[in-house]
Amino acid sequence: MEGDFSPVREIVDIAEESGALTYLDEIHSVGIYGEEGSGYAEQQGVRDRITVFQGGFGKGLGGAGGYIAGPASVIDSVRTFAAPFVFSTSAPAPLVAGALSALRLVRHDSTQRDLLRARAAELKEGLAARGIPVISRDSHVVPVLVGDPHRNKQVSALLLGDHGIYVQPVNAPTVPEGTERLRVTPTSRHTAEDVQTFVEALDAVWSAAGLPRGR
Ligand SMILES: Cc1ncc(COP(=O)(O)O)c(C=O)c1O
Repeated sequence: MEGDFSPVREIVDIAEESGALTYLDEIHSVGIYGEEGSGYAEQQGVRDRITVFQGGFGKGLGGAGGYIAGPASVIDSVRTFAAPFVFSTSAPAPLVAGALSALRLVRHDSTQRDLLRARAAELKEGLAARGIPVISRDSHVVPVLVGDPHRNKQVSALLLGDHGIYVQPVNAPTVPEGTERLRVTPTSRHTAEDVQTFVEALDAVWSAAGLPRGR
């Protein structure tokens, strides 16, 4: 929701000093960060120091569902005791096949993540040039700060009604009151023109809603 990065190296250092296990949710980063696309821990050089990874196929890998990966003892105990796992149907074969293909692709080909990075950079530059406030400029998740639940819904409705663009408004309690935002995430399939069109549309809607500009 913030579009920022956790201080994962420092957390791993502290965990190792104190003999703690680490559990890292890479759902927004798998397929997107790291040389092999395995995620943020890889990019930060701590992939081998995380105890359990959680990841998902629903974001960078274009499918649905997810996984955990870790020591056999942990995986065994989840298989044995985790009720949602024990009582759920297995992931359907087409989903698993899609996830496997996506994993193989991102491992050897960085084209899609390079495109995503380019689009995200253009988006952040375009918003900054117009003084539209962004909560964090760190990652490909770009949360635009509206700061009011009604105006947040209004901006989203105007974007859809006047420009045919849907962006999810995120209100409290999902985020703290006063930090209501639009969570904007470009994809590698968007073009530079798409980003430009979106920035211009948001600029017009921002003015129509009388929202403040600044940082
Ligand atoms: C940090 C995080 N973890 C896990 C999930 C769950 O993802 P999914 O619904 O694809 O299983 C989400 C969904 O947005 C998420 O943001």
